[in-house]
Amino acid sequence: MLSHAQLDAVAHHQGYTALLERVLISEEQLRQRVAELAEQISRDYAGRTPLLVCILRGGVMFLTDLMKHLTVPHHVDFMAVSSYGVGARATRGQPRITLDLNTDVRDRHVLLVEDIIDSGHTIDHVLRLLQTREPASLRVCALLDKPARREVYVPITYLGFEIPDEFVFGYGLDLDEYFRNLPFIGVVKKEYQ
Ligand code: PRP
Repeated sequence: MLSHAQLDAVAHHQGYTALLERVLISEEQLRQRVAELAEQISRDYAGRTPLLVCILRGGVMFLTDLMKHLTVPHHVDFMAVSSYGVGARATRGQPRITLDLNTDVRDRHVLLVEDIIDSGHTIDHVLRLLQTREPASLRVCALLDKPARREVYVPITYLGFEIPDEFVFGYGLDLDEYFRNLPFIGVVKKEYQ
């Protein structure tokens, strides 16, 4: 595992290719699947105005691409939940809300937009909190699902891809905050995990 300084040097001088074992989901596969999900969501929410709640920061690229394809009128808002620290990839604590919504979700149709469901604790925490605010409906849309790591059950209504238990980065997902901008999902080389 690289130190933060080493990773910074790699990011500036070599770029992501030094860390990439292989592309797991290509840009084209992402584009196609996100468009399909948007079509399904637009159909399911026809006649309503869903509130898309993006969980920062990993979900941002997925949210913005999803929005471009949605034909149903919708609103967006953001939450941030912290449970992993920089340089502490393997350790996690109790999820903590570090940024709450500006929108009152009572009687709204809320769709949570996440990049990845891993142990499930982050989204479980958000679901429990938002449920107390009495939305009309509350569903989860996740780009990636890593079921091998699940510790708590999470009901995922809209899913992009189920993936194996590998360390992935790109398309919003970071490697110690770097490389969220990659347009594909890649697997990190074993020696850098
Ligand atoms: C990642 C990801 C999910 C969460 C999933 O966020 O974006 O929110 O972990 O893990 P879980 O299912 O085990 O709870 P992270 O805390 O790394 O923050 P980030 O989105 O800002 O990168």
